[in-house]
Amino acid sequence: MLTYQTETHARGREALLHEPAGGDPDKLTLVRALGSLVWDENGKEYIDCTAQAWSNNLGANDSRVIEAAIEQTRQITHARPTFHTPALLELAELLVSIAPEGLDRVGFTLHGSMAVEMALKLALRNRPDARHVAVLHDAYHGRSLTTMAASWPHPGNVFGILQPQFLRLPRPDLYRPRQGLSTGQDTELSLRLIRDILTKGTEGPVAALIYEPIQGNGGHNEFSARWHQGIREICDEYGIMLIIDEVQTGLGRTGRMWASDYYGIEPDVLVFGKGVGGGFPLAGVLAKKRFAKFLAGDDQLTFGQFPISIAAGLAAVKAIIADDLCSRAAEHGRYATERLLEMQKRHPLIGEVRSPGLMVSIELVRDRVTKEPARTEAHAVFELAQERGVILGESRYGCLGNLIKIKPPLDISREHLSTALDVLDEVLTLVENGTEAP
Ligand SMILES: Cc1ncc(COP(=O)(O)O)c(C=O)c1O
Repeated sequence: MLTYQTETHARGREALLHEPAGGDPDKLTLVRALGSLVWDENGKEYIDCTAQAWSNNLGANDSRVIEAAIEQTRQITHARPTFHTPALLELAELLVSIAPEGLDRVGFTLHGSMAVEMALKLALRNRPDARHVAVLHDAYHGRSLTTMAASWPHPGNVFGILQPQFLRLPRPDLYRPRQGLSTGQDTELSLRLIRDILTKGTEGPVAALIYEPIQGNGGHNEFSARWHQGIREICDEYGIMLIIDEVQTGLGRTGRMWASDYYGIEPDVLVFGKGVGGGFPLAGVLAKKRFAKFLAGDDQLTFGQFPISIAAGLAAVKAIIADDLCSRAAEHGRYATERLLEMQKRHPLIGEVRSPGLMVSIELVRDRVTKEPARTEAHAVFELAQERGVILGESRYGCLGNLIKIKPPLDISREHLSTALDVLDEVLTLVENGTEAP
């Protein structure tokens, strides 16, 4: 690369507020993307098993999305939230038509965090006497001040004076149930504890309970059908709005359009984001008609209904449907899971293989009985794979930090998925044999 560019980039890296001084060696400078491939500034090609931020459900730079965004750009790029654009109305109609049963209103914004806040505001607008909003342990709902507080305890949190207090409720763990309990018993105990907290441990109404159908950043924690049903019953009994955060699981990721469809969950409100925008920032909320709408000023952001994102989103959702990416995700997911289960027989590091759909991950452990998290090993796997041209997802979340995620675009080719799994297999062998990552 030109010296001029190298020097400018080095200074730019230093200038970035979000970059550790000197730059993070894991961070690539990306210059191009197509489908499930990305290229860095040196022309090196990678298979992207992260869909960037688990958000390119439709592969990167899909021509239908790009054309729609260009056309919208030519027409009108910015419309105040008090006005509509044709694409806004078409996308509203389309999303309501594919939403889980009964969700027939929709609101838009640009980030998952703001969409979660929109859902929380809707809950409070509809329950003005509420004193609490509930979340689950190990949840992740975003990085705005409010959604950060709704997420797992944030180590070294200095933002507390500006953050609301959420009611944090226990959850079951299908991989590490509470000591001495089966997974079924752990689920029943968690439901009982939640009832106890709501009955004896809180004062005043709870407006909403928000949870992810599969906790994404919290460790790919799946729940049983019994759990989802039990939570629905509790919400009905206590008059609590059930908000399902599908920012990560929505738009085909689990092999169905919504994880709520996959698990048979009946949300009162569903939050979507990431994949809906086809690579452009877009998120929002689907809600039942019976809830009161927002009043003027409750939820207006300058770029909340950004026409280019909306037009891109309309094209992306149409493409996800036309290409039947839900089925593609389910088929790829089955293939990846079978291969990982076979690898698990040969690789003692693989503690558990998780899916469904292309929400695939493996939890690395030092010992399958104690389930001690293999954090440094997981990071070595991530680094060695990246060296070999495969970007795997790595979890650095608070508690464990030992998850390797495979969540590529849903239209990844079988060849690329297979190559990525070959590389994972190879680097697991290297790490198990003690080969250090550089
Ligand atoms: C489940 C969930 N909710 C909310 C968010 C926040 O979305 P955003 O980063 O677009 O604000 C995320 C992002 O990872 C998420 O995974």
